[in-house]
Amino acid sequence: MSTLNFALVGCGGITLQNHLPGLALCPEVRVTALCDADAATLERARQQTGATILSNDFEQIVTRDDVHAVIIATPNHTHVPVALAALRAGKHVLCEKPLALNVADARRLVDAAEAAGVRHMTAYTYRFVPAMRYLSHLIAQGDLGQPYHYRSCRLQDWGTRNLGWRQVKQFAGTGELGDMLSHRIDFAHHLVGPMRRLVANVKTLTPVRDGKPNDTDDWVAILAEFKNDATGVLESSKLASGRNESWRSLDYVEINGSEATFEFTTGRWDSLQHGRRGGPGLQTLSVPREFWTWPGSPRDPGVGDPLVSFRYDQAFEFVDAIRQQRPCAVTFADGVRSQEVMDAAIESAAQGKWIDLSGA
Ligand SMILES: NC(=O)c1ccc[n+]([C@@H]2O[C@H](COP(=O)([O-])OP(=O)(O)OC[C@H]3O[C@@H](n4cnc5c(N)ncnc54)[C@H](O)[C@@H]3O)[C@@H](O)[C@H]2O)c1
Repeated sequence: MSTLNFALVGCGGITLQNHLPGLALCPEVRVTALCDADAATLERARQQTGATILSNDFEQIVTRDDVHAVIIATPNHTHVPVALAALRAGKHVLCEKPLALNVADARRLVDAAEAAGVRHMTAYTYRFVPAMRYLSHLIAQGDLGQPYHYRSCRLQDWGTRNLGWRQVKQFAGTGELGDMLSHRIDFAHHLVGPMRRLVANVKTLTPVRDGKPNDTDDWVAILAEFKNDATGVLESSKLASGRNESWRSLDYVEINGSEATFEFTTGRWDSLQHGRRGGPGLQTLSVPREFWTWPGSPRDPGVGDPLVSFRYDQAFEFVDAIRQQRPCAVTFADGVRSQEVMDAAIESAAQGKWIDLSGA
């Protein structure tokens, strides 16, 4: 097995929390090159990885012959130029979500990745929660029956603090929609299938955050119809005061079908709630041990906080797809599909009407 050399572009929060610990668990993987626009952030990542190739210019990093794969974890507006540069240089790319600021740009990434013949992956990290994997498996084997309703609710308390680039539309594209709801849109596609049409609203209730203008949405809701006639109701908010943040706050998905109901909550990584049609109500269903880690992952699920460590399997899946020369479990096409829904949600909110989707 030859060593894979990785470059990271963007060494801020998510790189430190997810990407570096994930890569550290992968055999025969070296983080050799780092890029960040901020010198102190770059230095911190250098100390953590021992990487020797450092730059604040992504072109210099992603075009190097000794770099095989690139992880992009910069603010959203930079994903497309960095990814295109890496793909044109023939690198495998794992890009953070949302892939782009609009669906046309996201499609350019799929085209470039396919033309380059490389592995491509969108970082829909919550696909790696053991309970989500088990739920997906149960649905695929028919336990839900015909899907009737998909419902997701993500409620966090971010108060009115400054969110940096996340509250500037030019850099983020959208607020809660791209940041948090995009993962739940991806769940909907993964569990139910493509959407046919939607109507949505977005709201900015904090136009000023800690003295700085915020032109992104704090709240979003989508009412959707899927191509298979199932319905979807998706809501996400940064302003659910008192609910705390991250995995401590509500991240709920319920799916009702002709045979059963399943309820998934990110905070309960090793169980689902499940009820059969005509049964006594919802009961706890434990996630079997074989779903606690991604197939082949060397991660010990007993080490660390399981609500954090499942995220490390994302890097393993990317590395494994590169080695096996097979498509990643979550590709750029998944990023495009949710980007189309995000664009439609913004258009619907602006025009106050239903928007048809390609349903691809
Ligand atoms: N998959 C997930 O669960 C998840 C979670 C958090 C964040 N994200 C995504 O990850 C991305 C980064 O988020 P974050 O929270 O780490 O942000 P962050 O602000 O903590 O880090 C971003 C880093 O990118 C650097 N940067 C900015 N412009 C750059 C450029 N042109 N070239 C090189 N470096 C540049 C910044 O200096 C900063 O260090 C975003 O797209 C976000 O949506 C995904």
